Formats: sequence, structure tokens, C-alpha cells
Amino acid sequence: EKLLKKIQTPLTGTIHIPGDKSISHRAVIFGSLAKGTTRITQFLDGEDCQRTIEIFRKVGVHIEQNGKNVVIESEGASSFKEPLVPLYFGNSGTTARLLLGLLTALPLHTVSYGDPHLTKRPMDRVITPLKQMGAQIDGRISGSYLPLSIRGTTLHGIDYEPPVKSAQVKSALLLAGLFAEGRTSISEEIKTRNHTENMLRAFGADLTVDDNTVSIQKGGNLVATDVQVLGDISSAAFILVGAAIVPGSSLTIKEVGLNKTRAAILTVLNEMGSRYTVTNPLVLGGESIGDITNNYENLQGITIDGDIIPALIDEIPIIALLATQAKGETVIKDAGELRVKETDRIKAVVEVLQNLGASVTETEDGMIIEGVATLKGNTIKGYHDHRMAMMGAIASLIAEGETIIDYVSSINISYPDFFADLAYLSGQ
Ligand code: S3P
Repeated sequence: EKLLKKIQTPLTGTIHIPGDKSISHRAVIFGSLAKGTTRITQFLDGEDCQRTIEIFRKVGVHIEQNGKNVVIESEGASSFKEPLVPLYFGNSGTTARLLLGLLTALPLHTVSYGDPHLTKRPMDRVITPLKQMGAQIDGRISGSYLPLSIRGTTLHGIDYEPPVKSAQVKSALLLAGLFAEGRTSISEEIKTRNHTENMLRAFGADLTVDDNTVSIQKGGNLVATDVQVLGDISSAAFILVGAAIVPGSSLTIKEVGLNKTRAAILTVLNEMGSRYTVTNPLVLGGESIGDITNNYENLQGITIDGDIIPALIDEIPIIALLATQAKGETVIKDAGELRVKETDRIKAVVEVLQNLGASVTETEDGMIIEGVATLKGNTIKGYHDHRMAMMGAIASLIAEGETIIDYVSSINISYPDFFADLAYLSGQ
């Protein structure tokens, strides 16, 4: 439980944001698969990424972690040992989905499980195509929910068009495809985040990308490669929205990942009238980065739907808060995927914002938000979901009086320094 008060000062100053969660997971995965020593810097030292590290340790990879520095020494996937104990995915959907792809393709038997929240999240989106590749996998509810038992075996490549727009599905199939006979091809209707492709290439995999189709050839021999993780734009989003809604604010976030498949929050800020600027642009390991400055501004409601959704899926809770401070109506559509995230984020966002006095209507695949709302402090839920807890905390900055969030430790999943950064930016 955390008690938060409306702040009387603007948010000002310059911060670095913690490392990208998606990239941190992938750096551990590819570093463990590659022969040699991989050094990761600016690693996200959060709970989900810990789960990924623990799993590779259990199959025998030597991983040393010192905060944001991780050193992996591996003999490659052929040296992995069958774990003596079940593998724990914790709360991490990325760990679960990506590693299911890998584990089905390696000659190991494994049993895996998650926390009560992950146990309720669908795994059939990866299990269905993996079975088409020949995977032997079983679990609860006709084999589609954790806990799962996997008898790793020789898979064969397939051509697949995922019915859900999910980078986790694409990445699971690419990981399986790295060891499956022949070629594995994934064609996406809308391109989802492409960190897996960028990093596979950096580690020397035989990969081709043609528009929205990515193909990989069997060839498990990755070369150890150092990875500098970029600042996570999904974490930066909370601070950028804080700047946009707390009067008088002006702040800068250094070295944030700006990959187009991730950065659509910037398009939304721009369309709503929040005139951010990007300086010091750079490309690092196939990923672009830059410093983002954002200020308090008068905002305008917009419609957010269609092709842009996958590139801002994790930012929708905080965008919904932003919309309460924008003039007119904001409509969010085509975001049904939010219902199967760490919690049902459509229901949760609507509940929180209504409890704080905003006018929000739930729809099947999104919500409609009326602005401008004067928010009033209240007791709100954190839903054991890091992005919900941070959204509530940013809302409390402008909500009259006091706001109590019932559960905030989930924030350690993606942004361990969140409250320290907020305190610094508000001059406390
Ligand atoms: C992620 C992909 C997204 C995102 C999640 C991380 C990844 O999920 O919501 O936080 O690292 O690949 P989906 O691709 O399933 O939408």
C-alpha cells in the first residue's frame, strides 16, 4: 500500500530511464544460446528479467549479475542440461511465451509454471503453431494453460500467419525456428516490435526480413555479442505523461529507445498537442535512441485505433490517464489484447479512472474518455500489475488530496527506481 499526495511543484530535471524489458529478456536468451561470453550493460534489474536469468541458470548456463551488469558464459544450447526442478516463469508473459518456443525445440524434458496471474493467461497462441511444427507439449485446459510439460524434440519449420498481433508469438516461433529443420516464416498483418529480429541478426543468425515477413533458417550457432540495453520507452511513457499533465513541468529523459515498432506513444503525444522534442539521435545495435524532452501543454482528445495499436499496447493505461486531461473525447479501439495482459487492463483502467472521478466508458476493445476531468484522490487498486500501479501513481500527482494504491511492489517488474525518479523530478 502506498499513500500519495497531489504535488504542488512541476516535474523538472533530467533522468535516465531503466533498461528496456523486452531487450533485456532477449539479451539473456541470445547470450545463453551463443557460445562464448556475452556482456550486457544497462540491463533491467527487475523481477521479470530475473525469471529469465534463473531459468538459464537451471539448464546450466553460467550467469553473473551485478545490478545492471550481466555476464553470461555459455557453451551454447547443445550443452544445456535437463533441469532437475520445474521452471518458474513468475509473472512474466515474455519469459513464458519466448521460452516455450525454445524449450519445445531442444532435447530436454521440462515442467514449467507461473504465478497465479500468468497461470490465467493464454498460452495457446504459441502452443498451436509450435504443435504444427511438431512440438510435444501438454498442460491444463486441453494443453493451453500453465503448468506445462514439454518433451523437447526435433521440429520442422512452417509458414505461419499469427491470428493475434503479438511479438511474443513471433519471437517464440523464431526461437523454435533457430533449431527446427528447414525454414520457419512468420507473416504479420501489422508489424509488432522487432527486437528479436534485430538481436538475432546481431548474434549472427540466418534471418531475412521482407516487409512484414520474417524467415529464419535452422542454425543454432550464435556468436556471443555484447549488448547495451537502451532506456525503456514504455517506462519513459509514465514520466512523459507526468510532464504533460502536471502544470509547469519540463523534463528530459536520456537515451530512450525509439524503435518505430515501440514508439507510437510519441505519435499520440504529438497528435494530442504535447510538443515533445528528440535530441541526440543515435543508432545502437540496430535500435535507434535519443533524448526526449516534454513539457506541460494544453491537450486535445483524439481517436487511437488500427495499425498503431501494437506499437503502443503497453502504453494504453497511461495514455488513458493523459486523455482525462485532454479537451473533448478520446476513443481507444482495436485494443482487445489488453484484456489478456498482466490483468484485464481495459477493465482495470476504466475502474481506476472512474474511482478518481473521470468520465470513462468501457467498450469491448477499448474505452471512451471524456476530458477535461478534475481528478479527486481515492483508494485505488494496483491489480498486481506494474503498469496499473504506475498509472495510478502518476494520476495521484494531479488528483486533489490523497490517493492510496493498494499494491505497488509490482512496479519492481519494470521500473524499480520509479518513486525515486518521481521524488527527484518533483524536487523532494
Ligand atoms: C513483449 C511484447 C508485448 C508486450 C510485452 C512485451 C515482448 O506482448 O505487451 O510487455 O517483449 O515481446 P505481445 O507481443 O504479446 O502483445
